[in-house]
Amino acid sequence: MTRLLFVCLGNICRSPTVEAVARAEFARAGLGIEVDSAGTAGYHVGEPPDARSIAAGAAHGYDLLPLRARKIATVDFRRFDRVFAMDRDNLRALRALRPHDGAEPELFLGDREVPDPYYGDASGFDRVVMLAREGVATLIAGLRAQERDVSARRMADA
Ligand code: 4NP
Repeated sequence: MTRLLFVCLGNICRSPTVEAVARAEFARAGLGIEVDSAGTAGYHVGEPPDARSIAAGAAHGYDLLPLRARKIATVDFRRFDRVFAMDRDNLRALRALRPHDGAEPELFLGDREVPDPYYGDASGFDRVVMLAREGVATLIAGLRAQERDVSARRMADA
């Protein structure tokens, strides 16, 4: 089972949006992937996502209501196969926390960032949903290619 962790600063806007999109789209794609999210800061631990993120997600059919914020822990780098940062600040914070035998953190969108919508207007929250969908679609394509490689190798070995 592949386990993916999405990380932002507060775990109330960007990473819970990506978690909800990933959970829905992986299920739709028939992929058995475990997903979770966390923040590098503990300001909002135990809180539900920001109401603006809940609304933007719901407008596109994604349910953020059951999620609660938590702070990343060292053990997460060992429990998850891949740890995705939303921006370069998150990436720096994650690199500083990573144990030597833990997953190497990476940017969720490859070389781009998911901008922090917290101090902006509603359009920023909608953009987070769009970027989440884009990043998750890229992950699904990669996971499918991986599955094809594995089954091609099995066929060749049989
Ligand atoms: P997030 O957004 O990292 O996408 O969850 C933020 C949430 C809270 C704060 C900053 C960003 N804050 O400063 O409390």
